[in-house]
Amino acid sequence: MTTLCECDLRQQNTKPKMPIRERAPGPQVVSYAGERIYFRPIELEDETILRRWINDPSVWRTLCIRPPVNAVRQQEWIETLSKDPTQTVFGIVAREDRRLIGTVGLTNIRAAERSADLGISVGEVAWWERGYGREAVRLMVRYGFEELNLNRIGLQVYSDNWRAIRCYQKAGFVHEGCLSQAAYRNGRYQDVYLFAMLRDQWESGQYA
Ligand SMILES: CC(C)(COP(=O)(O)OP(=O)(O)OC[C@H]1O[C@@H](n2cnc3c(N)ncnc32)[C@H](O)[C@@H]1OP(=O)(O)O)[C@@H](O)C(=O)NCCC(=O)NCCS
Repeated sequence: MTTLCECDLRQQNTKPKMPIRERAPGPQVVSYAGERIYFRPIELEDETILRRWINDPSVWRTLCIRPPVNAVRQQEWIETLSKDPTQTVFGIVAREDRRLIGTVGLTNIRAAERSADLGISVGEVAWWERGYGREAVRLMVRYGFEELNLNRIGLQVYSDNWRAIRCYQKAGFVHEGCLSQAAYRNGRYQDVYLFAMLRDQWESGQYA
């Protein structure tokens, strides 16, 4: 993959479609690549855009986080990523314009059980329902099984988050159960669905 840094962009006199701040800081780093997206490390320079996304009610209402997320809290989260061996979190980049579009990761990585939990967020509502989420989930699952040698990847999702549920089902996750009224969001109790995928299911090839 060719690398193109900010300096290269200026030399080419190419006007970026987005402010450089919202692009990957410094030279492009590709940690793991898919068809339309790739993963890269999350950097401290991403703090502003991540904070904007996570404070958007359309985003945080679907996650187990509540605002406000200020700069300190956001920065601490990014710093934790480099110190905590129980999680592997990437930035999702769209290949077409090399723009950071969200984050995806495996948390609660447990060595003895070879298991982890998946989480994902595509930051801008305008980028939803373009297939990015589905591809990012599939790629993260592949990373979990092929690189981390996991045996099980689980996740939790609010019962009314149909966009996410559809995305997980298409990636091969199986509905395992329901935690009744386990969450309180948007003025009411909500059920939380449990989904999981085992290595055997993934290796069967259907979802790889
Ligand atoms: C959930 C999320 C990651 C999905 O990413 P995405 O890029 O929007 O998803 P995709 O475009 O890959 O797929 C969405 C699927 O849901 C379907 N869908 C969308 N709204 C739907 C609805 N109300 N009912 C049923 N299906 C729906 C889409 O048609 C698509 O299915 P298809 O592939 O069969 O057409 C993204 O919307 C997001 O980040 N949301 C906010 C954070 C979040 O909810 N994270 C998950 C927490 S568990």
